[in-house]
Amino acid sequence: MTHPHDPPGGRFITFEGPEGAGKTTQITHLTRHLDVAGVPHLLTREPGGTPLGTRVREVVLDPALHIDPLPEFLLYSASRAQLVQDVIGPALARGEVVVCDRYADSSLAYQGAGRGLDAGLLRSVTHAATGGLTPALTVLLDLDPRLGLERAAARGQPDRLEQADLGFHDRVRAGFLALAAGEPDRFLVLDATRPADDLARTIWDAVRARLALG
Ligand SMILES: Nc1ncnc2c1ncn2[C@@H]1O[C@H](COP(=O)(O)OP(=O)(O)O)[C@@H](O)[C@H]1O
Ligand SMILES: [Mg+2]
Repeated sequence: MTHPHDPPGGRFITFEGPEGAGKTTQITHLTRHLDVAGVPHLLTREPGGTPLGTRVREVVLDPALHIDPLPEFLLYSASRAQLVQDVIGPALARGEVVVCDRYADSSLAYQGAGRGLDAGLLRSVTHAATGGLTPALTVLLDLDPRLGLERAAARGQPDRLEQADLGFHDRVRAGFLALAAGEPDRFLVLDATRPADDLARTIWDAVRARLALG
Protein backbone atom coordinates (compact mmCIF):
# COMPACT_ATOMS: atom_id res chain seq x y z
CA MET A 1 0.00 0.00 0.00
CA THR A 2 1.22 3.48 -0.73
CA HIS A 3 1.48 6.03 2.02
CA PRO A 4 0.21 9.60 1.46
CA HIS A 5 3.74 10.89 1.98
CA ASP A 6 5.36 8.53 -0.53
CA PRO A 7 6.96 10.49 -3.36
CA PRO A 8 4.89 10.16 -6.57
CA GLY A 9 7.75 8.32 -8.27
CA GLY A 10 8.07 5.86 -5.37
CA ARG A 11 6.79 2.91 -7.38
CA PHE A 12 8.17 3.94 -10.74
CA ILE A 13 10.85 1.68 -12.28
CA THR A 14 12.61 2.34 -15.58
CA PHE A 15 14.92 0.23 -17.74
CA GLU A 16 17.66 1.86 -19.75
CA GLY A 17 20.52 0.75 -21.96
CA PRO A 18 21.28 0.28 -25.64
CA GLU A 19 19.21 -1.71 -28.10
CA GLY A 20 19.98 -5.38 -27.57
CA ALA A 21 20.98 -4.95 -23.92
CA GLY A 22 18.12 -7.14 -22.71
CA LYS A 23 15.60 -4.55 -21.48
CA THR A 24 12.60 -6.39 -22.91
CA THR A 25 13.93 -9.72 -21.65
CA GLN A 26 14.38 -8.39 -18.11
CA ILE A 27 11.08 -6.52 -18.08
CA THR A 28 9.37 -9.80 -18.98
CA HIS A 29 11.08 -11.51 -16.02
CA LEU A 30 10.18 -8.64 -13.67
CA THR A 31 6.55 -8.64 -14.81
CA ARG A 32 6.37 -12.37 -14.07
CA HIS A 33 7.80 -11.83 -10.57
CA LEU A 34 5.30 -9.02 -9.91
CA ASP A 35 2.45 -11.24 -11.16
CA VAL A 36 3.47 -14.10 -8.88
CA ALA A 37 3.85 -11.71 -5.91
CA GLY A 38 0.40 -10.27 -6.65
CA VAL A 39 1.72 -6.72 -7.01
CA PRO A 40 -0.54 -4.56 -9.21
CA HIS A 41 1.60 -3.14 -11.97
CA LEU A 42 1.51 -1.47 -15.33
CA LEU A 43 4.00 -1.98 -18.12
CA THR A 44 4.64 0.69 -20.71
CA ARG A 45 7.36 1.96 -23.01
CA GLU A 46 8.90 5.00 -24.65
CA PRO A 47 8.28 6.26 -27.17
CA GLY A 48 4.80 4.80 -27.19
CA GLY A 49 2.25 3.84 -24.58
CA THR A 50 -0.44 6.24 -25.81
CA PRO A 51 -2.05 6.75 -29.25
CA LEU A 52 0.14 9.85 -29.72
CA GLY A 53 3.22 8.01 -28.47
CA THR A 54 2.64 5.15 -30.90
CA ARG A 55 2.50 7.62 -33.81
CA VAL A 56 5.65 9.38 -32.52
CA ARG A 57 7.37 5.99 -32.29
CA GLU A 58 6.65 5.30 -35.97
CA VAL A 59 8.13 8.69 -36.88
CA VAL A 60 11.32 8.59 -34.79
CA LEU A 61 12.19 5.00 -35.72
CA ASP A 62 11.49 5.42 -39.46
CA PRO A 63 14.78 4.73 -41.35
CA ALA A 64 13.54 6.84 -44.28
CA LEU A 65 13.37 10.08 -42.23
CA HIS A 66 16.19 12.46 -41.40
CA ILE A 67 15.37 14.14 -38.08
CA ASP A 68 17.67 16.75 -36.55
CA PRO A 69 18.66 16.32 -32.88
CA LEU A 70 16.44 19.09 -31.47
CA PRO A 71 13.21 18.05 -33.20
CA GLU A 72 14.05 14.44 -32.37
CA PHE A 73 14.28 15.34 -28.68
CA LEU A 74 11.06 17.37 -28.85
CA LEU A 75 9.24 14.42 -30.43
CA TYR A 76 10.38 12.13 -27.61
CA SER A 77 9.39 14.81 -25.11
CA ALA A 78 5.91 15.09 -26.63
CA SER A 79 5.45 11.32 -26.31
CA ARG A 80 6.81 11.42 -22.74
CA ALA A 81 4.52 14.27 -21.65
CA GLN A 82 1.43 12.47 -22.93
CA LEU A 83 2.54 9.18 -21.37
CA VAL A 84 3.17 10.69 -17.93
CA GLN A 85 -0.13 12.55 -17.98
CA ASP A 86 -2.38 9.80 -19.34
CA VAL A 87 -0.75 6.55 -18.23
CA ILE A 88 2.12 6.68 -15.73
CA GLY A 89 0.74 9.37 -13.42
CA PRO A 90 -2.73 7.79 -13.07
CA ALA A 91 -1.28 4.30 -12.45
CA LEU A 92 1.07 5.60 -9.74
CA ALA A 93 -1.85 7.47 -8.20
CA ARG A 94 -3.75 4.15 -8.06
CA GLY A 95 -0.78 2.72 -6.12
CA GLU A 96 0.45 0.49 -8.93
CA VAL A 97 4.06 -0.26 -9.73
CA VAL A 98 4.88 1.22 -13.13
CA VAL A 99 7.61 -0.36 -15.25
CA CYS A 100 8.73 1.69 -18.24
CA ASP A 101 11.00 0.50 -21.06
CA ARG A 102 13.14 3.66 -21.50
CA TYR A 103 12.35 7.09 -20.03
CA ALA A 104 13.98 10.51 -19.63
CA ASP A 105 17.50 9.13 -19.14
CA SER A 106 17.37 7.88 -22.73
CA SER A 107 16.94 11.46 -23.95
CA LEU A 108 19.82 12.67 -21.80
CA ALA A 109 22.05 9.85 -23.11
CA TYR A 110 20.99 9.75 -26.79
CA GLN A 111 20.14 13.39 -27.56
CA GLY A 112 22.55 14.83 -24.96
CA ALA A 113 25.69 12.73 -24.81
CA GLY A 114 25.07 11.12 -28.22
CA ARG A 115 23.88 14.04 -30.37
CA GLY A 116 25.41 16.88 -28.35
CA LEU A 117 22.31 18.82 -27.29
CA ASP A 118 22.76 21.03 -24.24
CA ALA A 119 22.10 19.13 -21.01
CA GLY A 120 20.48 22.17 -19.34
CA LEU A 121 17.96 22.47 -22.19
CA LEU A 122 17.22 18.74 -22.08
CA ARG A 123 16.67 18.82 -18.35
CA SER A 124 14.39 21.86 -18.36
CA VAL A 125 12.18 20.57 -21.21
CA THR A 126 12.12 17.11 -19.59
CA HIS A 127 11.08 18.64 -16.29
CA ALA A 128 8.25 20.47 -18.05
CA ALA A 129 7.18 17.31 -19.90
CA THR A 130 7.18 15.05 -16.83
CA GLY A 131 6.31 17.46 -14.04
CA GLY A 132 9.61 16.33 -12.54
CA LEU A 133 8.45 12.72 -12.18
CA THR A 134 11.63 10.70 -11.49
CA PRO A 135 11.89 6.90 -11.14
CA ALA A 136 12.59 5.34 -7.75
CA LEU A 137 14.77 2.78 -9.48
CA THR A 138 16.45 2.82 -12.87
CA VAL A 139 18.00 -0.42 -14.08
CA LEU A 140 20.81 0.36 -16.49
CA LEU A 141 21.81 -2.66 -18.57
CA ASP A 142 25.31 -1.69 -19.58
CA LEU A 143 26.71 -3.28 -22.72
CA ASP A 144 29.37 -2.61 -25.35
CA PRO A 145 27.31 -1.18 -28.25
CA ARG A 146 29.04 -3.59 -30.64
CA LEU A 147 27.52 -6.51 -28.77
CA GLY A 148 24.14 -4.80 -28.44
CA LEU A 149 23.96 -4.10 -32.16
CA GLU A 150 24.88 -7.72 -32.87
CA ARG A 151 22.10 -8.94 -30.60
CA ALA A 152 19.60 -6.48 -32.06
CA ALA A 153 20.64 -7.34 -35.63
CA ALA A 154 19.71 -10.95 -34.94
CA ARG A 155 16.13 -9.64 -34.57
CA GLY A 156 16.03 -8.37 -38.18
CA GLN A 157 16.00 -5.04 -40.06
CA PRO A 158 17.89 -2.30 -38.16
CA ASP A 159 15.81 0.81 -37.37
CA ARG A 160 17.08 4.39 -37.79
CA LEU A 161 18.81 4.56 -34.40
CA GLU A 162 20.45 1.15 -34.74
CA GLN A 163 22.05 2.34 -38.00
CA ALA A 164 23.86 5.31 -36.39
CA ASP A 165 27.64 5.04 -36.16
CA LEU A 166 29.53 3.34 -33.35
CA GLY A 167 31.06 6.60 -32.09
CA PHE A 168 27.53 7.77 -31.38
CA HIS A 169 26.70 4.55 -29.52
CA ASP A 170 29.94 4.79 -27.50
CA ARG A 171 28.99 8.35 -26.43
CA VAL A 172 25.52 7.14 -25.46
CA ARG A 173 27.00 4.38 -23.32
CA ALA A 174 29.33 6.86 -21.59
CA GLY A 175 26.37 9.21 -21.13
CA PHE A 176 24.30 6.54 -19.39
CA LEU A 177 27.23 5.63 -17.11
CA ALA A 178 27.77 9.30 -16.21
CA LEU A 179 24.09 9.69 -15.32
CA ALA A 180 24.32 6.60 -13.12
CA ALA A 181 27.47 7.89 -11.41
CA GLY A 182 25.65 11.15 -10.64
CA GLU A 183 22.66 9.38 -9.05
CA PRO A 184 24.00 6.18 -7.52
CA ASP A 185 20.96 5.77 -5.26
CA ARG A 186 18.53 5.71 -8.16
CA PHE A 187 20.55 3.63 -10.61
CA LEU A 188 21.28 -0.08 -10.55
CA VAL A 189 24.03 -0.61 -13.14
CA LEU A 190 24.34 -4.19 -14.34
CA ASP A 191 26.70 -5.90 -16.73
CA ALA A 192 24.32 -6.97 -19.50
CA THR A 193 26.63 -9.83 -20.57
CA ARG A 194 25.64 -11.74 -17.42
CA PRO A 195 23.19 -14.61 -17.96
CA ALA A 196 19.60 -13.37 -18.24
CA ASP A 197 18.32 -15.50 -15.34
CA ASP A 198 21.07 -14.23 -13.07
CA LEU A 199 20.27 -10.60 -13.99
CA ALA A 200 16.57 -11.24 -13.38
CA ARG A 201 17.29 -12.41 -9.82
CA THR A 202 19.44 -9.36 -9.05
CA ILE A 203 16.78 -7.03 -10.45
CA TRP A 204 13.97 -8.69 -8.50
CA ASP A 205 16.00 -8.42 -5.27
CA ALA A 206 16.59 -4.71 -5.93
CA VAL A 207 12.93 -4.06 -6.77
CA ARG A 208 11.75 -5.78 -3.59
CA ALA A 209 14.25 -3.82 -1.49
CA ARG A 210 13.63 -0.40 -3.04
CA LEU A 211 9.88 -0.68 -3.23
CA ALA A 212 9.58 -2.33 0.17
CA LEU A 213 7.62 -5.20 -1.40
CA GLY A 214 8.92 -7.66 1.21
N1 LIG B 1 21.67 -11.62 -20.56
C1 LIG B 1 21.64 -11.94 -21.88
N2 LIG B 1 22.66 -12.64 -22.42
C2 LIG B 1 22.67 -12.95 -23.74
N3 LIG B 1 21.70 -12.62 -24.61
C3 LIG B 1 20.64 -11.91 -24.13
C4 LIG B 1 20.57 -11.56 -22.74
N4 LIG B 1 19.42 -10.85 -22.56
C5 LIG B 1 18.82 -10.80 -23.76
N5 LIG B 1 19.53 -11.44 -24.70
C6 LIG B 1 19.21 -11.57 -26.14
O1 LIG B 1 19.58 -10.35 -26.76
C7 LIG B 1 18.58 -9.96 -27.70
C8 LIG B 1 18.03 -8.59 -27.33
O2 LIG B 1 17.30 -8.69 -26.10
P1 LIG B 1 16.12 -7.67 -25.78
O3 LIG B 1 15.59 -8.07 -24.44
O4 LIG B 1 15.16 -7.61 -26.91
O5 LIG B 1 16.93 -6.31 -25.67
P2 LIG B 1 16.40 -4.79 -25.70
O6 LIG B 1 14.95 -4.81 -25.32
O7 LIG B 1 17.25 -4.08 -24.68
O8 LIG B 1 16.65 -4.29 -27.07
C9 LIG B 1 17.52 -11.06 -27.71
O9 LIG B 1 17.82 -11.94 -28.76
C10 LIG B 1 17.71 -11.73 -26.36
O10 LIG B 1 17.34 -13.08 -26.39
MG1 LIG C 1 13.29 -3.98 -26.25
